[in-house]
Amino acid sequence: MIGVMDVETTPAGTADLHLVLAEHSRYWGERDLRSLHLFALVHEFGSTCLVARADDGIRGYLLGFVTPTGTGYVHLIATREDARGAGLGRRLHAAFEQAARDQGARRLKAITSVGNAGSIAFHRSLGFTARIVDDYNGPGRPMVVFERPLTGRVCQ
Ligand SMILES: CC(C)(COP(=O)(O)OP(=O)(O)OC[C@H]1O[C@@H](n2cnc3c(N)ncnc32)[C@H](O)[C@@H]1OP(=O)(O)O)[C@@H](O)C(=O)NCCC(=O)NCCS
Repeated sequence: MIGVMDVETTPAGTADLHLVLAEHSRYWGERDLRSLHLFALVHEFGSTCLVARADDGIRGYLLGFVTPTGTGYVHLIATREDARGAGLGRRLHAAFEQAARDQGARRLKAITSVGNAGSIAFHRSLGFTARIVDDYNGPGRPMVVFERPLTGRVCQ
């Protein structure tokens, strides 16, 4: 495991997205989520799409945005397999939370597939509620929906 002290979190650029797509399996394992990595998100939501970089490359990233009704929505978050369990996912989320608050967000939200136990445990550790929404992706296609209201404090 590697630490988070030498990691810098900054807004993501298109070059960063190309880099993580080139090493997709180091972040997502067997699952192919490449089609969800939308370059438009990086172009249009620059301050809420973040990368955590270090000397050895991009250790984690988060793509998100704030909706007009004040929801800070995290579309994707992943940390590189060799960087997990060191607090980097929490740190990326805290940076997103601050950026979302700066844009007036009043709650955070994310979704994951029903079988993604790691993501469910991660979000619960960050204080999110988790509920299964049966037809989220259409009839018979449930997803887990995470939500957390933003109060006065920043969740570190
Ligand atoms: C989910 C993911 C982003 C977590 O990143 P991470 O850098 O390992 O997370 P952290 O080290 O910051 O952990 C934060 C908390 O979540 C908990 N946690 C993280 N992953 C966990 C897991 N797989 N099982 C149980 N708890 C977990 C940690 O124990 C920690 O809790 P604590 O602070 O209360 O001790 C990472 O496992 C990942 O990239 N997974 C593959 C991609 C994915 O599924 N992303 C989410 C769906 S969009």
